[in-house]
Amino acid sequence: MHSSSYFYIIIWFLIPFLFGSGSSSSDSSAKSSLDSLLQQYAFRELTGKRTRNGVPYDAHVPSSLTGVKVSAMILKTHILKRKVCGYYKNFFIPSGIIEEPYVKKLVLVYQNLANWSSFYYPLPGYTYLAPVFGILAYDAHNLYAKYLRDLDIQALEDPISIKFPYVQPAPEGSSPKCVYFYSNNFVQFGHVKDGNICETRVQGHFSVVAEVKVAPSPPPKANDTAPSPSPIS
Ligand SMILES: *[C@@H]1O[C@H](CO)[C@@H](O)[C@H](O)[C@H]1NC(C)=O
Ligand SMILES: *[C@@H]1O[C@H](CO)[C@@H](O)[C@H](O)[C@H]1NC(C)=O
Repeated sequence: MHSSSYFYIIIWFLIPFLFGSGSSSSDSSAKSSLDSLLQQYAFRELTGKRTRNGVPYDAHVPSSLTGVKVSAMILKTHILKRKVCGYYKNFFIPSGIIEEPYVKKLVLVYQNLANWSSFYYPLPGYTYLAPVFGILAYDAHNLYAKYLRDLDIQALEDPISIKFPYVQPAPEGSSPKCVYFYSNNFVQFGHVKDGNICETRVQGHFSVVAEVKVAPSPPPKANDTAPSPSPIS
């Protein structure tokens, strides 16, 4: 079977799954303009000098985004499909990665939103235990391109794992969860592996969060709320 057929099968499999447990967020334009801005800063690092494939290049970010870290790495897609790329910053890239639509070379843009995580990815009812890390793929054909649409990548064999070097302890009574922000605006939660690892098969933004439990209000006294029994005549 052609690999793009696999891709569609997996997407069809994912759709009910995402709709089932996901929720859309409303502030998607701030996120996509951030992605687009960071794509331009990342690509800037790849132009005007000789760059090697498979090597991460750290980008400059505007002073208005101090703290955010961005890198870019060019990869040939036939290598991504067949070979384990290993760690690219906090992401372990296994073999079996395909992209849609097909391109010859792609740029993997890495983002670490650091202290801007909850600003760009607010998640009411949850607290961040780690920064938001993002990985997005773009066509490497024109490194001067702006407002590029990200490519869909898919891990067909092992999932891509995201390692969070430091996960803060969860508040009392709450446990850490992986959170997945997909490009199509769905938010999903999953299990944390080995204390600091989340896994994904597609591009997006990822972090570890914990639910913030609202302090339970004291239960109302039985005779405050219970309606007095109506006399039975
Ligand atoms: C993040 O930290 C930098 C300093 O490292 C600061 O300039 C910036 O305003 C902070 N961002 C937020 C959203 O607090
Ligand atoms: C019900 O309220 C009265 C006072 O209004 C109180 O003396 C009594 O202990 C209460 N009973 C229960 C079961 O809370």
